[in-house]
Amino acid sequence: MTVRDNQLTPPAAAPGASALPGAHQEAPPPAAAAEAVRLTGVSKSYGTGRTQLLALDGVSLTVRDGEFVCIIGASGCGKSTLLNLVAGLDKPTSGRVEAGGRRVGLMFQEPALFPWLTAGRNVELALRARGVPKAARQAQVAELLAAVRLQGFAGQRPHELSGGMRQRVALARALAQDADVLLMDEPFGALDAMTRDLLHDELERICTDRTLTVLFVTHNVREAARLGDRTIVLSSRPGRVIAEYAAPRGPRRTDSPEVAQLAGLLTERLREEMGRHGS
Ligand SMILES: Nc1ncnc2c1ncn2[C@@H]1O[C@H](COP(=O)(O)OP(=O)(O)OP(=O)(O)O)[C@@H](O)[C@H]1O
Ligand SMILES: [Mg+2]
Repeated sequence: MTVRDNQLTPPAAAPGASALPGAHQEAPPPAAAAEAVRLTGVSKSYGTGRTQLLALDGVSLTVRDGEFVCIIGASGCGKSTLLNLVAGLDKPTSGRVEAGGRRVGLMFQEPALFPWLTAGRNVELALRARGVPKAARQAQVAELLAAVRLQGFAGQRPHELSGGMRQRVALARALAQDADVLLMDEPFGALDAMTRDLLHDELERICTDRTLTVLFVTHNVREAARLGDRTIVLSSRPGRVIAEYAAPRGPRRTDSPEVAQLAGLLTERLREEMGRHGS
């Protein structure tokens, strides 16, 4: 596998998910898609001396262009740390994080919208930060709000929107970053199951329309089984990759037997891991 000028090139063969002890099935074949993100032996410690804390330990993983990869693991196992490293907000203590020149966008658990700005202005701010000229911004805001099915809500302030609608605005704002790779940190964690299901469908449609690559952190095994082409399970802290599961191909619904079966396997693996740590 060659790495040149921080550009990731398509490898001859994908690192097989099936090689991992917890593998469910073969990972998707190493199609023509290039690697969008690669972590190689990434460790991250916080602090120094006696207060030093190892959050991630030797994490290696790859995400291909157009793939939807979920990360699950116990609270505190380093999931957000991992996303921060991919986003370039922090540096690994050792190992390499490469995003091959892809533009990376972030979406967090809380919508974190500016309460005094309308939905439209919140989205516009991201366009402005990206240097989109004023004349083009209005049309792009309308297009982005339409993509998350919020036509007609551009003038509402966050407190006038439901929780699900606020997350849609946050998603539109993340899309406004025009990212190739979207990093999502439990974005739907605070929503009820029905709203979450609806947003899963929307997100799937948006990802297909825009050929987005997604690295999605969740606590919710059903959500991972529903959305992920692959799901990577991290150990309890320090986070290490302990298993990787490929989802069945084709459309998946949250209530389908395939999703239920995969969610069951993920739950089992997580329980086993938590049991090992007595948590
Ligand atoms: N900036 C920081 N300084 C010191 N310690 C940190 C920092 N950020 C995270 N940690 C520690 O690193 C560990 C991993 O934190 P992280 O937020 O990545 O976990 P997580 O898997 O995202 O957890 P959760 O599921 O609860 O969101 C935790 O023990 C946390 O206390
Ligand atoms: Mg977190």
